[in-house]
Amino acid sequence: MQGTDDFIKDAVESIKVKIPGKAIIACSGGVDSMVSAALASKAIGDRLLAVYVDTGLMRKGETEEVRGMLKEMGISFKIVDAAEEFFASLKGVTDPEKKRKTIGAMFIRVFEREAEGFGAEYLVQGTIAPDWIESGDDVRHTIKSHHNVGGLPKEMGMTVVEPLWDLYKEEVREVARALGVRSSERQPFPGPALSVRCLDEVTPENIAVVREACFIVEDEIKKAAAGGRMDLPWQYFAVLLPTRSVGVHGDRRAYGRTIAVRAICSKDGMTATCAKIPMDVLEEISARITGTMKDQVNRVVYDITSKPPATIEWE
Ligand code: XMP
Repeated sequence: MQGTDDFIKDAVESIKVKIPGKAIIACSGGVDSMVSAALASKAIGDRLLAVYVDTGLMRKGETEEVRGMLKEMGISFKIVDAAEEFFASLKGVTDPEKKRKTIGAMFIRVFEREAEGFGAEYLVQGTIAPDWIESGDDVRHTIKSHHNVGGLPKEMGMTVVEPLWDLYKEEVREVARALGVRSSERQPFPGPALSVRCLDEVTPENIAVVREACFIVEDEIKKAAAGGRMDLPWQYFAVLLPTRSVGVHGDRRAYGRTIAVRAICSKDGMTATCAKIPMDVLEEISARITGTMKDQVNRVVYDITSKPPATIEWE
């Protein structure tokens, strides 16, 4: 990438030329979409509407956090509550690719509706290089359909503008720091959100379990890193497995859910190794998850696989 300041100047100029009318951008709160929104807002001001879709699949407190960030950045925005629609469309879907494609299609449906309401003809997206590299092309075998690429129907009646197309995560973070975007140090979070961390059916109840587990993993790891017990991993989260196992509550048999903890070291998400979390931190995570959700979860495991052969997310 060229220098950060030059990149920002060129990106803003290029957006001005590419978007003569109104545009919307889907803001998830992640660094990619927030940086794209900041660049587009610099370029076209109020002709941009940032749309945050509350899919019901977001992390704990995320909607309020994103609302705060968008306000702070002075970007005009709308928060759309689409949780019911998303859960209805995901009913009975367990195949990972079908899940990703369903969510991609739902996002597009919501955006199209919002774009029509706002009168936008342009869609700004925070797609970065690993998203399209891993979504497959003529040469590469499709690994996963990233929702911001794979879910995009060809017939969508909007012109797509993707200012971060050639950038890798670290470069996006540099741009975010230069622009003062608060999510610059946020860990990556997948477009299909907690749905790809729920290997069971995507129901409000299952999502609530994985949401609480993700919160605990994030909270405990941040505390341990702040206390100098470990380095902050590149990404760290929980996954709800479809496996039940036998446990014991007091003197009673329990047949509960399993949470996998995933924490990895990476530079760009293309390859990764398992983070070497101190054993006592892992034990604290396990105790807090099984203590907080004692009626649901009775087993916690740590995923020690590298990428490859695994991927970072489980779906
Ligand atoms: P995987 O699981 O493919 O993930 O090793 C690599 C990185 O990408 C994130 N990820 C996504 N990001 N849309 C995104 O914007 C998606 O559909 C998506 N799926 C995975 C993942 O969290 C990791 O950081």
